[in-house]
Amino acid sequence: MIAEEKSNLSDNKVMDKLVSLCKRRGFIFQSSEIYGGLEATYDYGPLGAELKNNVKQLWWRDIVKSRSDVVGMDAAILMNPEVWKASGHLSEFHDPMVDCKNCKARYRADHIDLEKNCPSCGIKDWTEARQFNLMLKTYYGPSEDSSSEIYLRPETAQGIFVNFSNVVTTSRAKLPFGIAQIGKSFRNEVTTGNFLFRSREFEQMEMEFFVKPDQTTQWLEFWKKERLQWYKSLGIREDRLKLRPHDDDELAHYAAACFDVEYQFPFGWSELEGIADRGTYDLEQHAKHSGKKLTWFDSIENKHTTPAVVEVSAGVDRTVLTILVDAYHEEEVKGDNRVVLKLNPKLAPITMAVFPLVNRDGMPEIAEKIVENLRGEFATFFDAGGSIGRRYRRQDEAGTPYGITIDSETLEDQTVTVRDRDSMKQERISIDQLQSYFRNKIL
Ligand code: GAP
Repeated sequence: MIAEEKSNLSDNKVMDKLVSLCKRRGFIFQSSEIYGGLEATYDYGPLGAELKNNVKQLWWRDIVKSRSDVVGMDAAILMNPEVWKASGHLSEFHDPMVDCKNCKARYRADHIDLEKNCPSCGIKDWTEARQFNLMLKTYYGPSEDSSSEIYLRPETAQGIFVNFSNVVTTSRAKLPFGIAQIGKSFRNEVTTGNFLFRSREFEQMEMEFFVKPDQTTQWLEFWKKERLQWYKSLGIREDRLKLRPHDDDELAHYAAACFDVEYQFPFGWSELEGIADRGTYDLEQHAKHSGKKLTWFDSIENKHTTPAVVEVSAGVDRTVLTILVDAYHEEEVKGDNRVVLKLNPKLAPITMAVFPLVNRDGMPEIAEKIVENLRGEFATFFDAGGSIGRRYRRQDEAGTPYGITIDSETLEDQTVTVRDRDSMKQERISIDQLQSYFRNKIL
């Protein structure tokens, strides 16, 4: 079947179309929607939760399970407020903010040109830029005074640094080694937007790789290549990915150098992940503030060293957004518009949908049996509602790579048609060959 690609990056409506597809198919909803929503917070629906989970599982597999030099952990979101004093987040983790005195719109001062008029009302009347701390505050325990104020973590990394000794002692780790975790982080961003790209509650996948300080450069190079390759392995188009070094004035307070993996979103090249040389900053800060020794004992050189850190820090939600943007296609098929998410089968929430052509002659029963046989190994879905063409279109929008249809021929020769989402080509496969057919294609 001939399909002509219609969508391209210059189509600035891609983001709007994607947001509406995500809602229509149950990927992502506005949080608390029935109460008018809460700006920049999102809920993942059935398909979105599967997609997000697949991203996290692949990261964990590739960073933790398949490496002998990385271990995982899972720290609490709420931490002793002293952590944020020591890490520098209380004094340094802020963005410059300006307000338009005329229309009260608020902007990040480093995101707009203050020599120009306000983008929302067209008048130039700015307040002075002032620093705004990005940590979200809450109260811990029953009293609401300054002694019970604590913060929701703005990065998962600090949970790793404060557990450095616990992990080293219990896992008997030797340099170089990494500690990884996936979890929620919160930032009271001055401005939010571009759907999942910048929100106030998001998830991070972070790994702190501890090395001898004189080996930092080589490990930074290693992880830069490794992480760029990881995004390519998810099927993201290579020409839309690049590594960009930070300029000195962009560096976070803890970083001596940083490289961003960037993706070319419809709204421009933007950060997906940061790969940073954090040096010995964090362990030294925590050692100083806590009075505890946070070093590693080198038994060959017979001395204690404070390891340096190369950090890889990715956003789960930004990765999900990238995957969705990259997979979104519109094609003209026989005069009709086909919307299709060309998701990599490793990521797709549903791997194969099984359709009885009609709801009689034993076809639904055969379909359900196929679903049961493939379930466990693959994410399968049974759909008997509506015309076969409509069912295919629904699954195209859900990003399901394969459709299996049971028809009258099945009743005679025990074969089914397998439809490929991207080429829309169909082939007949014997039911008892389905498992090995898909194993060869996907695993
Ligand atoms: N521990 C280092 C750190 O947190 P970062 O560059 O501030 O570094 C790392 O954040 C990643 O976390 C970003 O590359 C992005 O993917 C994700 N991220 C940060 N802020 C975000 C936000 N407001 N919304 C969604 N994702 C965010």
